[in-house]
Amino acid sequence: MKNLFQSKTKRGIMFFILLSSITITVSNVAFSQQGAWTAPPVAGKKVNPLKADLAGIAAGKSLYTKNCFSCHGKAGKGDGPAAAALGKSVGDLSSAKSQAQSDGDFLWKIQTGKAPMPSYQKKLSEIQVWQLINYMRTLKPTEK
Ligand code: HEC
Repeated sequence: MKNLFQSKTKRGIMFFILLSSITITVSNVAFSQQGAWTAPPVAGKKVNPLKADLAGIAAGKSLYTKNCFSCHGKAGKGDGPAAAALGKSVGDLSSAKSQAQSDGDFLWKIQTGKAPMPSYQKKLSEIQVWQLINYMRTLKPTEK
């Protein structure tokens, strides 16, 4: 009797372990498929207080050349001089997919960063990031 009970318990434990590992594997796969980098919905709703005037865009362009060009490249195509060594795609800021995001999404991503992209929370003021975003809106998919 005792042996039968023990083997049932053992089988129960084995079954539990098997089920747990299946659950863990399935949820890991689901998570890795989420892959894309998305800003939290609240952050995306933040509105750009600046008008996209020429002076602001020019300021944004010079900030871009200084801080972002090395990875993102001249026209945002992700082909800057440092990009090849990152071992990760930089993406294309001029693409329709990228440009479909809100200014708030961009603000959050630029301030948060995602390795190897640094966080610019402390390096740039919020106004500077909005200027940068107004410049990024001028990047055209066709330009080289
Ligand atoms: C060291 C290289 C590097 C630098 C410098 C850098 N980035 Fe990035 N950036 C990346 C990489 C890599 C990604 C892709 C991250 C990912 O999706 O995993 C990225 C993604 C982004 C995205 C998200 C694009 C999208 O479509 O979701 C934005 C916006 C962005 N960068 C803006 C900037 C701005 C603005 C600067 C300068 C202030 C900058 N980055 C500087 C490497 C860099």
